[in-house]
Amino acid sequence: MNTIMTSRAYEAARERARVLLATMTLTEKLGQLSQFGTSIYSDNEQTFDDHFTEGKVGSYLTIKGAQRTNGIQHDLLAATRLPIPALFADDVIHGYRTTFPTPLAQSCSWNPEVARRCSEIAAKEAYRAGLKWTFSPMVDIARDPRWGRIMEGYGEDTYLCSRFSEATVRGYQGEGETVGKDRIFACMKHFAAYGACIGGRDYNTADMSMQTLHDVYLPPFKAGVDAGAATVMSAFEDVNGVPATGNRYLLTDVLRGEMGFKGFVVSDAGAVVELIPHGFAEDEKDAVRLAFGAGCDMIMAGDPYNDRLPSLIEEGKISMEQVDASVLSVLTLKYLCGLMDEPYVDEDGEDCFFCDEHMDAARMAAHETAVLLENNGVLPLRPAAMRGKKIALVGQLAGAEGKSHLLGAWSCLCDPAHTVSIEEGLQNALGDACEIVTVRGCGVTCADTAEAHEKEAESIREAVLAASQCDVIVAVVGEEAGMSGEAYSRSDLTLTGHQGELIDALVATGKAVVLLVSAGRPLILTPYKDKVAALMLIWQPGSSAGSAISDLLTGAVSPSGHLTTTMPVCTGQVPIYYNHTNTGRPALGNWPFESKYRDCQIAPLYPFGYGLSYTSFSFEGIRLSADTMTADGEITVTLTVRNTGDTDGAEVVQLYIRDLVGSTVRPVKELKAFDKVFLAAGESREVTLRLPASELAFHDAAMNRIVEPGKFKLWVGECCTDERYEFGFEIV
Ligand code: BGC
Repeated sequence: MNTIMTSRAYEAARERARVLLATMTLTEKLGQLSQFGTSIYSDNEQTFDDHFTEGKVGSYLTIKGAQRTNGIQHDLLAATRLPIPALFADDVIHGYRTTFPTPLAQSCSWNPEVARRCSEIAAKEAYRAGLKWTFSPMVDIARDPRWGRIMEGYGEDTYLCSRFSEATVRGYQGEGETVGKDRIFACMKHFAAYGACIGGRDYNTADMSMQTLHDVYLPPFKAGVDAGAATVMSAFEDVNGVPATGNRYLLTDVLRGEMGFKGFVVSDAGAVVELIPHGFAEDEKDAVRLAFGAGCDMIMAGDPYNDRLPSLIEEGKISMEQVDASVLSVLTLKYLCGLMDEPYVDEDGEDCFFCDEHMDAARMAAHETAVLLENNGVLPLRPAAMRGKKIALVGQLAGAEGKSHLLGAWSCLCDPAHTVSIEEGLQNALGDACEIVTVRGCGVTCADTAEAHEKEAESIREAVLAASQCDVIVAVVGEEAGMSGEAYSRSDLTLTGHQGELIDALVATGKAVVLLVSAGRPLILTPYKDKVAALMLIWQPGSSAGSAISDLLTGAVSPSGHLTTTMPVCTGQVPIYYNHTNTGRPALGNWPFESKYRDCQIAPLYPFGYGLSYTSFSFEGIRLSADTMTADGEITVTLTVRNTGDTDGAEVVQLYIRDLVGSTVRPVKELKAFDKVFLAAGESREVTLRLPASELAFHDAAMNRIVEPGKFKLWVGECCTDERYEFGFEIV
């Protein structure tokens, strides 16, 4: 497929960049490889105006707004010898101002179009603020919900994450020849295996087999490269002993060599000088030698490249050719996005922020991202049935106080004032039909003082009193926005503060409790699963949270999200993921000496792929196009999906396989295709899923990527444990 990185426009941009490069001094070249700006760790904005005259600034991060970016651009261009504008970047992760559900939530839609659309709007708003580049998507596979950054990615599965990776890249960059108006460059991060930090502790070592690295963690990056991702960010952690930012094997051999990446690599914030505390570099100069030498083209953030590369070049430790190649890549992108021809952005363009179209898109995304886990029939709360009744809406996250938390971490320039709370959403949807009584109940967290605990106990008593006079209770619990994201690892995934007591007390009223869980990551919901009347994981749904969630609660829309991370029974089960290997002693329950826990089941609370709807579906006439294929062949699976209920809804058809015997052991299940099908009540549609043999390839013990002949099982189901429709096929 043609992408911006293979287009004629790209070649033309490169040609122009070459001409410019030939006129540049070494100082000016190194400036293009240096990024400055507001530290994400503080609000201290530093524009380094004293660097302008020599041309020592190539890019900025985290500068907010069209006026500000234009202003800095103007000062820079007025002062430099060569008029090379700065490339402005930011962490536009799930929206710029209009905020969408978190990426993990987006993945639960099992609809890559949702991610494409969210990224497309995020790009438009970011572009209007003067940005040309986002540090997104994060395509790190995450199998451990203790890791707070699990909320930034697309879950535990390689195949699903790869589809979201390419969709997001296309959303940001568009599918044209260049990255033009309202489009920005994507940056896939964090290369590589950042999600595999041991113990779920952020920044910690990733230590894994080369097979796991190549078969599980790298394919989403390859998918993004193939979709034309212009940039990649190197990760903080060490991978099998070599820090990713100084890892020549990863940044050069794999990324550029094997994957064919043609853009440039930016380091993560401070990751170059962190090669020193890693114990990999002696000092800053050594760190620059190792990082730049490995293939890290641009440094975020600061002067180490400006300061250290000249002597490294002089000493012959870094070649001028390598510097030129890096600068050429940066300049090419500056030409490709039109920055060299028009360095400023129209300051009147920001009126699209929070416009109806964007808020509606956020609402539609949130419809598809919530996952209904339990429902005894209490949901939906249809307006007609609720007439004259009373709903108790409970929890810190339910009312105005919850707005900022429903936006989630990494929500760029989000705005609680432009966020619909659950209370507002529910009032709009049901306020005419019934009375809604909002009570705080308790906070997500509680300070550890006797006074604070007593205050929460009193507040819970008040909530219970109010709730006991209502017909239905809707309780919203979970995490505050800042409890997931970077550097927020947790060792215990149970509900914090007094939230557990609150739920128990509400259940004890005997009223039906609809529990909504808003969190960045999977939490432990084991104690509540069977006690509540309905349980819905709403994640952090973004600016239109309240509108979308009330659409789901009232049945205006049927839930269609499915889990993309396994939900553990207890924190001790993690890391937990569905595509594990079988072991020689799988837990069959026959004897004690099996691979299991003695104090806990090994099955999760909810499996990967799981999610309920208000309607039901049947799969009919499932057939394989053949039961054998060659190593370069393909099988298709065709079936009719029917909505057998009386409500419109969407089903996610999931295709899993198992390679029964391999030269290295193979996972018990692997997702290889899926399709989300929207069907009106009673409607049916034929669906065809493709299974090319190349999807079954893996790396053998000698690291050859092979498609191995042999027997496979294949399942078509509604989640990874659904084995009602089992088939066999063989690669010959
Ligand atoms: C994060 C990156 C982010 C960068 C810039 C780092 O701390 O790891 O994901 O893009 O900061 O804000």
